Amino acid sequence: MPAQTATQARKSAPTSGNGRAPAAPQESGFLSDVKALRERVRQHIDEGAVTPNYGADRDKVVALLNAALATEIVCVLRYKRHYFMAQGIASDSVKAEFLEHAGEEQEHADEIAERICQLGGEPDLDPEGLASRSHSEYVAGTSLREMVREDLIAERVAIESYREMINYIGDRDTTTKRMLEHILAVEEEHAEDMNSLLQGIKD
Ligand SMILES: [Fe+2]
Ligand SMILES: [Fe+2]
Repeated sequence: MPAQTATQARKSAPTSGNGRAPAAPQESGFLSDVKALRERVRQHIDEGAVTPNYGADRDKVVALLNAALATEIVCVLRYKRHYFMAQGIASDSVKAEFLEHAGEEQEHADEIAERICQLGGEPDLDPEGLASRSHSEYVAGTSLREMVREDLIAERVAIESYREMINYIGDRDTTTKRMLEHILAVEEEHAEDMNSLLQGIKD
């Protein structure tokens, strides 16, 4: 069946309460002219998911995401270290918390790496310089209290940096922004988990 023309679509569109058909998107000034939009998109087909009206500075967004990727990987490694080192000095529930967080940080790393690829960039997974690319630090920790405290600090660093990234990107790249908002919410839960654990650990 041939595609409806804008006029046909307006004719068959449901009418609003006043008996008049609602304005077509083009008339409302909300969407660009469909023909021009299709032509513009065709010219840059090799750019995959990045279309001409992508509003952010793509290189800058990829660089920010690579810093976030390094941060997440450092968090995976730190939580894994704490999970294994907590054997014998912590209850099963504390160890389970470390392991759960390690898994969630890995999920964040994967989501971020995937988004970097969608944006035409390359995820930087080079172990060389990983710690310096990361926002948060890798602190091994010896006592359980030190481990949890360092995890809480790292989560607070991640929260601040994700919030800054979200503010920078704004509505110029809503997909990246949405992903970062979701990750930020999980980091806030992580921080609260570590804060609760810390309250229960004596010096
Ligand atoms: Fe994370
Ligand atoms: Fe986290």
